[in-house]
Formats: sequence, C-alpha cells, structure tokens
Amino acid sequence: MKTSVLFGLTLMFLCIFINGSLSKLERLEHPVTKSDDSLSFLVVGDWGRKGGFNQSLVAHQMGIVGEQLDIDFVISVGDNFYDDGLKGDNDPSFEESFSHIYTHPSLQKQCTIKSCSHPKRLEMVLSQIFNFVLSSGMVEFFLVDTNPFVEKYFTDPGDDTYDWSNVLPRKKHISNLLHDLDLELKKSRATWKFVVGHHGIKTAGQHGVTQELVDQLLPILEENKVDLYINGHDHCLQHIGSDGEIQFLTSGGGSKAWRGETQPWDPKELKLYYDGQGFMSFHITHSQAKFVYYDVFGNVLHQSKWCKDSKTFGLF
Ligand SMILES: *[C@@H]1O[C@H](CO)[C@@H](O)[C@H](O)[C@H]1NC(C)=O
Repeated sequence: MKTSVLFGLTLMFLCIFINGSLSKLERLEHPVTKSDDSLSFLVVGDWGRKGGFNQSLVAHQMGIVGEQLDIDFVISVGDNFYDDGLKGDNDPSFEESFSHIYTHPSLQKQCTIKSCSHPKRLEMVLSQIFNFVLSSGMVEFFLVDTNPFVEKYFTDPGDDTYDWSNVLPRKKHISNLLHDLDLELKKSRATWKFVVGHHGIKTAGQHGVTQELVDQLLPILEENKVDLYINGHDHCLQHIGSDGEIQFLTSGGGSKAWRGETQPWDPKELKLYYDGQGFMSFHITHSQAKFVYYDVFGNVLHQSKWCKDSKTFGLF
C-alpha cells in the first residue's frame, strides 16, 4: 500500500440531519506521488444501512476495485447513516454501518486532514475544496453542501428535523456560498475541476432534477468550465452528458435501490441509468478522466474515458 496516499474513506457531506457549514471555502492541498502521476478514487453514496440492502456486497467490491486501482481515497456523496445520521461520537451505527462494513485493506487509509469526531478514517465535511497536486497538473474537488438549496426542507420538512443553525439566514448563506465557489473556481489553476454535491442537477432518477441547483449552481459550473458534477441522492448509478459539456454522474447505489421510478431523459445524453446498487471508480491523469460503474458483483455496467482537451469521449 502506498504511504504517500493522504487520506482514506473520506466521507463528504453529513447526513441531511446533521447540518452546519463553513463560512469560507477552505482549500486543503495534497501532493500525489504515484509513479504514473495519476489519481484514483472511488465514489459511493447513500449507504449506511448496517450492511443491509446489499451495502456489504458493494463494500466488498469496492475493496477489490480499490486494491486494483491502488486508490488514494473514497468520496461519499452523502446520506451516510440511515435513518437519522450519527447521534454523537459513540453511536454504534458508526461501527455497524461503516467500520465493520468497509473492511477491505484497500479502504483503510490514514486520514490526515483535519480532525473530526471520528478522526481515524472518517472525515465529514460540508463545503470545502480538496486539491491534489500531480507533477503534470492539479485535480481540484469543490464540495458543495447542497442541502440549504432545497426549498422543501425549509417549507415542508415532513417528519424530518434539520438543524439549520449554521445556515440561517438561508438566502445570505446561499449567496455567500455561491459567491465563494465562483471566486475559488475562477482562482483555480487546476487542470481538472470536479464539483461534488449530494443532490442531482441532471438526473432521470426518482427525485428528479433539483431545480434550485439548476437555477443557482449550474450557471456557475458552466461559466467556470467545471469538468464533472458528482452526486448521490437518487439511489441509482447514472451518467448524463454530451460532448463539450459538463458530465453529470450519480453514484447513489451504496445500499437501498431498485426504486423503479425512472423519469424520461434524452437517450442521447443518458449514457447509463442503472436502478440497482453499486459504486464508481475514477482514474485521473493530466489528459484523461476514466470513470467506471460497477454493480454488486463487480461487473462493469458502463465506462467512459473523458478527454480533457477535446472534451469528448474516447475509447476505453
Ligand atoms: C441485491 O442485488 C441483487 C443483484 O443486483 C438484486 O437482485 C437484489 O434485489 C438486491 N437486493 C436488495 C435487497 O436490493
């Protein structure tokens, strides 16, 4: 195992029941020193169900693929601990849904970014920037806490309780976040700019598009030539994209799936829609981003090679 690897199962975005936010986007830098000058990682979302609903099968395959790719870290795109998030540092759900599930050696990486309630392997953040420095360029991840954008959580929360103490007043919070994101994207010298959120911008899944994000976030991503937008929320695996445009990737198949409620989408754009469980892997070099979707048996469902300069799909 590479010791240069910087952090491990990095879980981005708390469950929607635990809220909070940084007032400024913080940039955390990590040099990558793999001999082939690449960055590899997995993305899983919507997973914490004590191993149930195929969570354990997905975790097992993540371990195998993680080893093959010698991954640098794992991104979770949210909804980490069902149903209500973690209740404090000693909540047994942490073991039952995380440390006893993602057990493969390839997933055990030391977490060296700033501490949190479970500093050993789990880092939970809301909005933040992670910067990975290859010798040939940089890969930058802009994590955006998309929960405050969703109007319904404020006007019609149903049985869910949210702590918005770090979000209110909401309008100001959102405008600050968008302003900071825009600024940081403009400042960025990274070759690759990936934005990660929980909710979908383009998705044919059960929840459908998050109109608030289409209206407010998407224009900033387009203006700043973001390469990929990665999300969870819809419990499926999905790739929506066209040549020359941002690719929209959903990896929300970490446990419960098979909802059977797909919405129509232009088949020219919808490269993959898989309603079951699974996860994604990424392998990034200076010129190409390869991403692969796997089912619970590790079968490849779909793969794509996105070429940086031409912004087109290449042969794998
Ligand atoms: C687990 O995965 C298999 C294969 O995709 C599927 O047939 C089965 O329905 C899944 N189980 C659950 C509980 O989702």
